Amino acid sequence: MPPVPAFLYGTAWKEDSTAALTELALRAGFRGIDTANQRRHYFEAGVGQALAAAYRAGVVTRADLFLQTKFTYQRGQDHRLPYDPAATLAVQVAQSLASSLEHLGTDYVDSFVLHGPSSGYDWTEADVEVWEAMRKERDGGRTRLLGVSNVQLEHLEQLAATGTELPVFVQNRCFARLGWDREIRKFCGERKIAYQGFSLLTANPEVLQHPPLINLAASLNASPAQVVFSFARAVGMVPLTGTSSAEHMKQDLASLELKLPAELVQVIEGMAG
Ligand SMILES: NC(=O)c1ccc[n+]([C@@H]2O[C@H](COP(=O)([O-])OP(=O)(O)OC[C@H]3O[C@@H](n4cnc5c(N)ncnc54)[C@H](OP(=O)(O)O)[C@@H]3O)[C@@H](O)[C@H]2O)c1
Repeated sequence: MPPVPAFLYGTAWKEDSTAALTELALRAGFRGIDTANQRRHYFEAGVGQALAAAYRAGVVTRADLFLQTKFTYQRGQDHRLPYDPAATLAVQVAQSLASSLEHLGTDYVDSFVLHGPSSGYDWTEADVEVWEAMRKERDGGRTRLLGVSNVQLEHLEQLAATGTELPVFVQNRCFARLGWDREIRKFCGERKIAYQGFSLLTANPEVLQHPPLINLAASLNASPAQVVFSFARAVGMVPLTGTSSAEHMKQDLASLELKLPAELVQVIEGMAG
């Protein structure tokens, strides 16, 4: 079983370029791919086309990869649903994952994530049903691991209070002004849940334009974006990037080699929150 890669390539919003960009990312060295069975924002079948092309060309094998997809409630979807909306939520979960496996040309994913809870504040009965259905998929071998996304601390606390098993991953938008999601990262850190951070660049333009960070990056011969990704790794996150640029793919992966002095990690952590 491959470990979780240090960086995930995100496939949202790429439409007809999904296959070409995902293949480019695999060729650039990404081994973790994040997608979702939510046609509104992701073209999962395009990810599958990229995988097939990369296997054919001998770039990677299935066993080299960490593939992550998501179950999305109907309210997060458009009309292109990957399940029968009249079916129970448990059946929708099973249908969604079966469709993902078909899109991705595999009989298991490495991680299956609840795209977002059904309510903005509470872990509801619907979430309980979905989580149990996701656990069944895991027990059936169709995913190795489970995660949740777009969660508040309350969701995680209420999920934990049901006494069920905790997710292996939390995937959240990471705002520097919220201490880089400090509370959630603390909850995760105390429970050995891996935190995946997205929108590290797009949610934090003020950080990327902060003169001290720009100077620090220049002194390290790196870009501000690389410093942010390197910081994310240093505080234990698994960052995501969805870059469409071959150059940025290389730079994003190279940021893993960048070593930030501990005192600078602290400065960045306290920068905006
Ligand atoms: N769970 C969820 O609800 C959820 C929500 C949103 C996203 N995601 C996941 O996270 C992935 C990433 O999404 P994101 O929101 O972080 O945004 P993104 O799509 O990765 O956008 C990142 C932006 O940063 C730029 N960029 C990347 N590397 C750069 C570099 N080295 N230097 C300068 N600019 C750079 C990109 O521009 P270039 O293209 O020009 O490089 C792009 O404009 C998505 O594809 C998806 O898989 C999940």
